[in-house]
Amino acid sequence: MTDAPRMGQGRERSRFGGRPTTIRSLATYVPPHVLTNADLATMVDTSDEWILQRVGIRERHIADAGVATSDLAKEAASKAIERAGLMPDDIGFVVVGTVTPDMFFPSTACLLQEKIGAHHAWGFDLSAACSAFTYALTTASQFVASGAHDHALVVGADVMSRIIDYKDRSTCVLFGDGAGACVVSAAGPDDGALLDFEHEIDGSGGPALCMPAGGSLRPASHDSVDERQHFVKQDGRAVFKFAVRKTEEIARRILARNGLTPADLDLFVSHQANRRIIEAAADKLKLTTEQVIINIDRFGNTTAATIPLALNDAICTGRLKRGHLVLLASVGAGFTVGAVLVRWGALAKDQE
Ligand code: ACO
Repeated sequence: MTDAPRMGQGRERSRFGGRPTTIRSLATYVPPHVLTNADLATMVDTSDEWILQRVGIRERHIADAGVATSDLAKEAASKAIERAGLMPDDIGFVVVGTVTPDMFFPSTACLLQEKIGAHHAWGFDLSAACSAFTYALTTASQFVASGAHDHALVVGADVMSRIIDYKDRSTCVLFGDGAGACVVSAAGPDDGALLDFEHEIDGSGGPALCMPAGGSLRPASHDSVDERQHFVKQDGRAVFKFAVRKTEEIARRILARNGLTPADLDLFVSHQANRRIIEAAADKLKLTTEQVIINIDRFGNTTAATIPLALNDAICTGRLKRGHLVLLASVGAGFTVGAVLVRWGALAKDQE
């Protein structure tokens, strides 16, 4: 692990090309209503003990009726822009990672742009399920690195409760709602930096985790609703095995390319799908508990929002500081796989 910030001691090489980019601020939001394991045990045949042991979740936040992904995203995004010391009009590009857009179109990016008043921004939604935040971060960083924009807004937000079958105990205990946002900006000489990215997709994993109906293949019909096809379906064991294998693989690959080993990391921030997935991958990487952040117990799997929620917790508890070397890693439906290596630079006065 690094002992001291290495910023200002010569710029590390970045695979993003162009000018250096950095995460300038971070903010998150979860809706106030909490759904506990005890609450779920009144809805399906499950128990607090099973959920804690098999998945590691105690509670998750659930959006009230009428609250959409763009509403959660707005709370996180406005705060992130404020923490960056910017105005909404300073944002040139918005990317929203989500599998629960407010509606098919217009995009949630458009709805969010209007809600936060980012009048000079263009943008779009990005569909990569649980890898959406790492993919969105990489995408936004390219536009800043190229010089096209000075400031980009990256959002990971999902209202998973809208596509979860609360009669299916194998999935309904896993997910929660939440949003995270960060501002990616051109980096100054003493800032942190987005150093590298690595992403994969493997479409052969599609059937293992999907929402079968509601798209062009199987549009909504009385049958599709009666057959509960508008909810998340998953082969939990297949996803579990793939997630453990790929999390280790992609982490090793990106670290090796940068001449690093897992021991060099100050913080490993994995997508939070299951405590056992994170612990198994961390074990394979021989990471210490001090290097790994796990907060799935309080939020469940919030899909695109887990990584910013974990980063936020790490900042608030003093585990993530300026100068730290951080690896973000994700595996999601598709399958999608992602990793982003970051020299942390965000300073948020009301977070530290
Ligand atoms: N409460 C009580 N019992 C349950 C529950 C529940 N909520 N859910 C399943 N069970 C039962 C099953 O019915 C089964 O019973 P049986 O043996 O009588 O048939 C038993 O528990 C074991 O079921 P498994 O599916 O084998 O349980 P497993 O240990 O694999 O855990 C889980 C299931 C938690 C879904 C796990 O496979 C997992 O985490 N998979 C990863 C998938 C994931 O996290 N996806 C999230 C989105 S994708 C992503 O983010 C990467």
